[in-house]
Amino acid sequence: MTIGVPREVHPGERRVAATPDSVKELLKLGYQVVVETGAGQEASFSDDDYRAAGAAIVDAASLWASVDVVVKVRPPQVHPSLGVEEAALLKKHAALIGFVWPAQQMAMLERLAQRGATVLAMDCVPRISRAQKLDALSSMANMAGYRAVIEAAHAFGRPFAGQITAAGKIPPARVLVIGAGVAGLAAIGAARSLGAVVRAFDTRPVVRQQIESLGAEFLTVEIEEDGSGSGGYAKEMSPAFIEAEMRLFAEQARAVDIIITTALIPGKPAPKLLEAATVGLMRAGSVVVDLAAEQGGNCVLTVPGESVRREGVTIIGYTDLPSRMAAQASQLYGTNIRHLLAELTPGKDGQLVVDMADEMIRGATVLHQGAVTWPPPPLTVAVPQQQAPAEVPPPAEAVPPRSRTGTTLAALALAAAALLGLGAVAPPAFMAHFTVFVLAIFVGYQVVWNVTAALHTPLMSVTNAISGIIVVGALVQLGKPSLLTAVIAGCAVLVATINIAGGFLVTQRMLKMFQRD
Ligand code: NAI
Repeated sequence: MTIGVPREVHPGERRVAATPDSVKELLKLGYQVVVETGAGQEASFSDDDYRAAGAAIVDAASLWASVDVVVKVRPPQVHPSLGVEEAALLKKHAALIGFVWPAQQMAMLERLAQRGATVLAMDCVPRISRAQKLDALSSMANMAGYRAVIEAAHAFGRPFAGQITAAGKIPPARVLVIGAGVAGLAAIGAARSLGAVVRAFDTRPVVRQQIESLGAEFLTVEIEEDGSGSGGYAKEMSPAFIEAEMRLFAEQARAVDIIITTALIPGKPAPKLLEAATVGLMRAGSVVVDLAAEQGGNCVLTVPGESVRREGVTIIGYTDLPSRMAAQASQLYGTNIRHLLAELTPGKDGQLVVDMADEMIRGATVLHQGAVTWPPPPLTVAVPQQQAPAEVPPPAEAVPPRSRTGTTLAALALAAAALLGLGAVAPPAFMAHFTVFVLAIFVGYQVVWNVTAALHTPLMSVTNAISGIIVVGALVQLGKPSLLTAVIAGCAVLVATINIAGGFLVTQRMLKMFQRD
């Protein structure tokens, strides 16, 4: 099959859905790749770069007419030079992959359905651990958060870092970040690295640690309410909570120079958190960057797509922040796309297989061979960030504790009886070792099962030490004359060594993630 990478036609869009690097990977999956001439120009990738990577360069009309899979950034829209909607240009029964926003694009989806198309929406990829490598929403939010700080720094009349110079003292910039999701955390990181004093607020208390680990202060309100919704996203807060947080922002407005707002609730308009009066409390020269501008904005004064000045405060409502970092944003998006295509090409034979039994693929597929498949059924796999006790259905809480306690007690009684029975017949030395063995299993089980999934990787590194002790113990036993002892000791050495080697590999991978060069 052939994958086509058209030039984005949305006004001002600079990103491209595949880069020369990602094209090389797509070729390895067995596809041929054609790229529209000039598709990567705005993201600093020339036609020659794509040619060198192995793609063919064609014009728009022949690309749309010939390819089996189109990869795009923005949803299809009217093609300015061909004068037809891109949906109508797609070859019959072809596939389209890109941001689709099906809730807002139903009419366009219907038109694609008439062409028997299959459409995978990057914005519908479920937020499960397995799908992190194709999570384009996070990749783009990361870029937007960083760029928000750069735009704020550009509009702000002072450096971010404090200085004491012969010509006078420069106070550090004070930045408030509202909403510490992917974009908010990226903004905190960027503002901190520029030297600003950063504080942040979020309705999900679970992000406190992440905020603090980036060197920012986590602000709270007096009302206790957990904003964690399903799938790692936030839920709508009570009016009392919103009022309380708005009071907090009004207090903060007097103290901070820059406010970056990123608060969003999936499928809902952005909550209005900054009133005109709050902005009025900010010092002249302050800046508000509203990352929620496209969804209506967190600030009532935001004009989507524009930067406006109100009472001396600059309010930036740009809706194209990732596109303003086109080269890196395209690189990340292109990688997300090629990971999705790798999942869709199990045979690495250039043949697209949309496996609707796979929850990740099912979630992303909004149109399958002409049939609308959006919205998908609810996920059945666990979402790691879903740590909201409030979301647990009440009946499940009411019944199990008793029966679980009963089962645990019965199991303990049975184990105690078995130990007593064994103690009556086994030699004392065996019993001492056996008790340690049973306790080790119990403690090990409790440690591994009670540690949150996100910490399993560091836990694995820590178990290296334990594996080391096992290897030493087993080596001592290897010299014993009994064949059975030698075999068990050999197995212990093998398994523990695998664990140690694996631990080192995982630790190396983790360290690489934090290396800056
Ligand atoms: P988002 O863009 O939908 O929301 C941004 C932030 O606004 C969220 O942190 C939310 O709690 C906050 N917010 C909502 N209402 C607010 C209010 N009234 N006041 C203050 N803050 C408010 O969220 P995003 O960045 O797309 O992801 C949110 C979370 O999802 C991440 O922090 C992460 O825990 C999880 N996630 C999980 C992934 C996975 O498992 N594959 C991938 C990406 C994110």
